[in-house]
Amino acid sequence: MNMVDIILKKKAGEALSAEEIRFFAQGAAAGTIPDYQLSALLMAICWQGMNAKETTCLTMEMMHSGGVVDLSAIDGVCVDKHSTGGVGDTTTLVLVPLAAACGAKVAKISGRGLGHTGGTLDKIEAIPGCSVSLTQEAFFRQVNDIGIAVIGQTGNLAPADKKMYALRDVTATVSCIPLIASSIMSKKLASGADCILLDVKTGNGAFMKTLEDSIALAKAMVDIGEHNGRRTAALITDMDTPLGRNIGNSLEVIEAVETLRGKGPADLTEVCLSLASGMLWLAGRGGAAACRAMAEDALRSGAALAKLRAMVAAQGGDPAVIDDPSGFPAAYEQDVVCMQDGWLYATDTEKIGIAAVLLGAGRETKESVIDPAAGIRLLKKAGDPVKKGDVLARLYAGDAAKFAAAEEKFHSALTFAAR
Ligand code: URA
Ligand code: CA
Repeated sequence: MNMVDIILKKKAGEALSAEEIRFFAQGAAAGTIPDYQLSALLMAICWQGMNAKETTCLTMEMMHSGGVVDLSAIDGVCVDKHSTGGVGDTTTLVLVPLAAACGAKVAKISGRGLGHTGGTLDKIEAIPGCSVSLTQEAFFRQVNDIGIAVIGQTGNLAPADKKMYALRDVTATVSCIPLIASSIMSKKLASGADCILLDVKTGNGAFMKTLEDSIALAKAMVDIGEHNGRRTAALITDMDTPLGRNIGNSLEVIEAVETLRGKGPADLTEVCLSLASGMLWLAGRGGAAACRAMAEDALRSGAALAKLRAMVAAQGGDPAVIDDPSGFPAAYEQDVVCMQDGWLYATDTEKIGIAAVLLGAGRETKESVIDPAAGIRLLKKAGDPVKKGDVLARLYAGDAAKFAAAEEKFHSALTFAAR
């Protein structure tokens, strides 16, 4: 078998056989296929697509290209959730404690920020002392004891995906439904949970910009999960505007705590309650209405906030931050002021995410160091009436020299309508 024939076949629009898919996935993991051949194949897949059988096959090959986590040491049903990535997407820090407070076991392996989107690990590390690297034994023990742990990847989970994702990132081949579905699901299946809830973001801040594409991606991923014996479901949620008001790592910890106190933004609260109910439903804890009521109770009673506090303490973090997160971001501040009267009609969410990265909240290159205090607090959101002189947003950075470029990017994300 050779790569040129496989590339030719896909270029001509034919379906690849299981052997051909195994050949290039194993080659990607082993580093035996040159980047130019893998890149050419990925571009051919982007143009010609893959059928459901090919997509499932690629997922399985990538999943088994590395270690597969065995969560059988954890008592009870393990439930995981995955977001396809957004801006100000504070959900994990809220809904994982919510689900755990209702008795679900959440043994979660999370990721870091990617491009204009944030990542849960960076948010957890914004809490002083909080670690995301636990030994496997400590990870299992913590989930058995308190029902919840969130850590980074250990060992080599899906190395074939790691190789291909890095190439896709630099060859404009990320936004392709079979490639995204197999990339995400290979890692989710390898992470070992019994049930998987997918939060597929849709809109101008998401990988999938249209509802139609988001539904297609959700269906592809649910099919793969179900075919592998995992209870899998997806919600499609809005990313046409950042979620909540805070974007940035410590700012999102603050917003998560506010939300768990029942004082969070309405949009974030609703997405978290819906996702938490979905996780409980998948874990077999009751019908949809009962699961929703359970999640609402855990929020109202403070049980979910207590779970987040317990998780932070167990992972070495300072729980005082959860008790009183005010004053947690201590950096320079600068207001973005409105220059006209009218309505804030729309926001380009991806550009707002990039503005946050420019302030230091994300990585411009793989080597960039995150500033946990950096970020943006939105005081006006799309749909709000505005007046000249209103503060639209407050920018935070550890280095005042970063404000100029970030403010310019932020302004470019806004569209106003006359009153
Ligand atoms: N996240 C992933 O892990 N893979 C993709 O292809 C896109 C988003
Ligand atoms: Ca947010």
